[in-house]
Amino acid sequence: MKVVVTDYIEPDLEWEAGKLAEWGVEFAPHQLKFAPHEDVAAATSDADVVVVNMVPITRQLVETWARCRTVIRHGVGYDNVDLKALDDAGIPLCYIPDYCVEEVAEQAIALIFASARRVVSTRKVLDESSAAGRWDFKDAIPIFRMAGQKLGIIGCGRIGSRVYEKLKSFGFKFLVCDPYLSDERRLELGIETVDKETVFREADLITIHTPLTPETRHMVNRGTLALMKPTAYIVNTARGGMVDVEALADALQQRRIAGAAVDVYETEPPTADYPLFGERNAILTPHLAWYSENAGMRIREIILLEIERAMNGLPPRYIANSVKSVRKTAEVRR
Ligand SMILES: NC(=O)c1ccc[n+]([C@@H]2O[C@H](COP(=O)([O-])OP(=O)(O)OC[C@H]3O[C@@H](n4cnc5c(N)ncnc54)[C@H](O)[C@@H]3O)[C@@H](O)[C@H]2O)c1
Repeated sequence: MKVVVTDYIEPDLEWEAGKLAEWGVEFAPHQLKFAPHEDVAAATSDADVVVVNMVPITRQLVETWARCRTVIRHGVGYDNVDLKALDDAGIPLCYIPDYCVEEVAEQAIALIFASARRVVSTRKVLDESSAAGRWDFKDAIPIFRMAGQKLGIIGCGRIGSRVYEKLKSFGFKFLVCDPYLSDERRLELGIETVDKETVFREADLITIHTPLTPETRHMVNRGTLALMKPTAYIVNTARGGMVDVEALADALQQRRIAGAAVDVYETEPPTADYPLFGERNAILTPHLAWYSENAGMRIREIILLEIERAMNGLPPRYIANSVKSVRKTAEVRR
């Protein structure tokens, strides 16, 4: 059996190499994030298992594979993978939604608090006023007490519901929007849901936790930003595509809203002309919400577990497409 890694974010994959060698598995790690299709196709052509981080898994690529039986996406989202192409090839897409729920919830909360307490922009106020020999807070205000404010949560799945549970004791009033939440889960959490417009119109702080879908793409746009209170903040740790960033930059410049905190970008890394880079009321982090030393190791352990499952003909724990079983090694396609 051969495992090919198309691209990875770890400093090295020595730990995986050691484990797979013990199991007698051939292992070929690559860094092909920006490589042309031909190079990715050549590297993956004889893989039984493909582990991918950001490389696009296109139909053109999948059609070059002779024996692949599982694709493992290193992460939660899988918008770089053509699910239909994998369906047609009979290959399940394994994704890993459960390695960093705590971390992303913690990051969203950190950004909510940093926004509401203006932690980043008040540092600039301190620097500037100290440099001028003044002690001047006027550029730091207004700040409102968080207790009693309305916190909008859009998307109440693994991460959104964890944000809710962690923040329950902080005195927020919650406005939760998730049209797909089951009644059972809603009752379990003890929440009522509202529509998206209500969240945009009434919330003081909004945190987004939906997947990127045609429905959620540019959910934050000129129209929804126009509904928001001028004192409101928006936090996005989900996917960059959820936000029309030009519209958000305009809203910040025109003080249509008070601020934004963003961990994710439509293009990653964002280019130097990214509209929020010069924006004083934007807090920007480099798509690191998922990261902690704990989560970084946990995902590596889970990927090895998934490789082991594939070796034993077991389907992945979480499958993103409609193929629910794994071919045995011998059943190569051509
Ligand atoms: N920044 C990071 O490092 C990082 C790490 C992990 C996950 N994420 C992102 O966080 C997001 C949430 O992940 P999750 O694991 O909680 O996903 P999840 O699938 O568990 O939950 C998503 C929820 O969104 C709801 N939803 C779908 N469409 C909706 C809509 N139009 N309006 C409102 N709700 C809608 C679903 O019903 C579901 O309950 C994803 O976009 C994921 O890619 C980011």
